[in-house]
Amino acid sequence: MTADTAQEFYGRWERLYDLIARRTPGIPALRRRGALACRLEPGDTVVEMGCGTGANLPYLREQVGPDGTVVGIDFTGPVLERARTHTAEYDNVHVVRGDATQPPIGFDADTMDGRADIDAILATFVVGMLADPPGAVDDWCELVGPDGHVVLANAALSDEWYALPVNAVFRAVVVLSTPPTTKLRYEGQPHRRLDEKIAGAHSRLRERSSAVADETHVFGVVRLTGGRLE
Ligand SMILES: C[S@@+](CC[C@H](N)C(=O)[O-])C[C@H]1O[C@@H](n2cnc3c(N)ncnc32)[C@H](O)[C@@H]1O
Repeated sequence: MTADTAQEFYGRWERLYDLIARRTPGIPALRRRGALACRLEPGDTVVEMGCGTGANLPYLREQVGPDGTVVGIDFTGPVLERARTHTAEYDNVHVVRGDATQPPIGFDADTMDGRADIDAILATFVVGMLADPPGAVDDWCELVGPDGHVVLANAALSDEWYALPVNAVFRAVVVLSTPPTTKLRYEGQPHRRLDEKIAGAHSRLRERSSAVADETHVFGVVRLTGGRLE
């Protein structure tokens, strides 16, 4: 999937996506868990990569309090507008347009020094859209540095005993919500490709960190992995 296709898709469907992102049963609880797994303290700084319409941002703001900083990054303009509207009441929640694989944060480009003071990075339902999910996880681990936290949540095929019907629904949702690119149609099984990307990203995070969370939610379909960097 190209960046243009993704932006066009989410730009067009942002209102519907926002509804699904906030109202799907089980998802608000997952968002709270994701924010808790970031292990934030009051006053901390947390960045959400691919924040979409901002459904996680209030949970992150809850963790860092009024003295902390929350930054949401996404490359789709219309979803960011909605995220801004949802977080307008907080002056320490910032929504920035940028690429999660080259985030507009980090080292000072002029002096090349000073690690960005980021305590945690959260990315929910995003890594499956990236060309190199394990590579992105590596970069995010570098950004938070030692003692920082990286947390991923993604939907993938369930392996619970009731997996058959759950996976059938999941496949249908993935096929319907995958932007219609020729490449994915050609590959024929977008859910398989998505599964591989997600598994790769979560494994990389497990390899690079000590686990603070490794659990499934929403009938085993959503995996949440959180790690503290050494
Ligand atoms: C499925 S939505 C998830 C949104 C949000 N994280 C949530 O949990 O509701 C994926 C979002 O990732 C964004 N996205 C995908 N690839 C991106 C990239 N390389 N850089 C920034 N945003 C990206 C899309 O614009 C879209 O808003």
